Amino acid sequence: MKDSLDIMQRAAEVFTPALHNYYPIPVVRGEGVSVFTSDGKSWMDFSSGLAVLALGHNHPRVVAAAKKQMESLIHTGGVYFNESTVSAAEKLVSITPPGLDRLFFSNSGAEAVEGALKVARYVSGRQGILSFTRAFHGRTLGALSVTTSAAAYRMKYHPLLPSVYQVPYPYCFRCPFRQEPDSCGLCCLQDLEDTLKYKISAEEVAAIIIEPFLGEGGYFPAPSAFLVALREVCDRYGIFLVFDEVQSGMGRTGRWFASELSGVVPDILAVAKGIASGFPLSAVVARKEIMEQWPSGAHGTTFGGNPVSCAASSATIDVIREESLLEKAFSKGFQVFERLQRLSVKHPVIGQVRGHGFMIGIEFVLSDRAPDTASCKKVINYCLDNGLILINCGIERNIIRFIPPLVTNDKELDAALTIFEEGVRRLA
Ligand SMILES: Cc1ncc(COP(=O)(O)O)c(C=O)c1O
Repeated sequence: MKDSLDIMQRAAEVFTPALHNYYPIPVVRGEGVSVFTSDGKSWMDFSSGLAVLALGHNHPRVVAAAKKQMESLIHTGGVYFNESTVSAAEKLVSITPPGLDRLFFSNSGAEAVEGALKVARYVSGRQGILSFTRAFHGRTLGALSVTTSAAAYRMKYHPLLPSVYQVPYPYCFRCPFRQEPDSCGLCCLQDLEDTLKYKISAEEVAAIIIEPFLGEGGYFPAPSAFLVALREVCDRYGIFLVFDEVQSGMGRTGRWFASELSGVVPDILAVAKGIASGFPLSAVVARKEIMEQWPSGAHGTTFGGNPVSCAASSATIDVIREESLLEKAFSKGFQVFERLQRLSVKHPVIGQVRGHGFMIGIEFVLSDRAPDTASCKKVINYCLDNGLILINCGIERNIIRFIPPLVTNDKELDAALTIFEEGVRRLA
């Protein structure tokens, strides 16, 4: 592919190597589930552009809404008000968990996490923060301080924020306490309680931040019982519970937010990625009484709440509602899950399939259950060679994220699964 070489060479001349691109595919156009190169090749994008494109590429309603907004006003810079931004905020709080009805718009996931940590510290008057080992919350220094999905991400950036402590994520497939989920008695929660006893007093902790469905760290949903117990700990000590739903939100699990699966309502919520179908937009959302104690000037933004992104966001929410995409993703996701389960029974290289809706993790293992990075890579490469883009995650990169756009139809799902199944079969 000449274009591919050209663009990669030019990119190498102009970008720092710190900027990582997954695949050498020079895309010129995206439509629905697919992306296209100039020489007519196409791939089904089951990465959803890194878990962003709930409606697929260039959904006509999103394009039309953004174009219309661009014709009247592109930017406010927070200098004046605009209808598009206010209506997007109204629409967003109509889908967030009950009681979370005030927000601050920003541009990226990391910024939403920064906002969440800042409001928690500001309002509580406390400094401490607890996060979970394996979690990914972003790359800015505050977000990085609560991120431990890989030490490499933190390397050479120390010292990070002080008074941040990590406790084990309830990643039951590889339980850090070598327990089984049915009989463990939530011993990872005991570790959290010990942290509050030995390392930092509960009354000094502003927030506990968690991805209710672990993303980059391994695609693993936290057990509902754990989240319920976590809510109880936060209530007991007056600690803000922050859910980072940057990846798991906006319909990915077949619910607007993964929190709905456990019924646990956080105090503060970070939203990004799928919120505006690819336009940069994120939000930190919290209850009125929390947000009202965050006064004017305590936080700020130039581009947050951009009117074009906001128009795209409103259109995204409308389409998800009108086309019942949550319900569809939930039920189709279940069928996908069952088909992958059947595959895993025949091919023990798949150690576990887990998830909800269109947020499914497929973990590759060796016979002793150790992470099988090589097989995961082979399957991804086979799929790439056959027109299907998948991305992986986990520190050993041995977990595939099966995250098609919510608009993916049965035929496309079947085609993608057929390619994937063949990729797994060829491993044998
Ligand atoms: C759960 C979670 N939080 C935060 C982020 C950071 O988002 P961004 O890359 O938009 O800053 C990500 C990105 O993958 C994420 O998955």
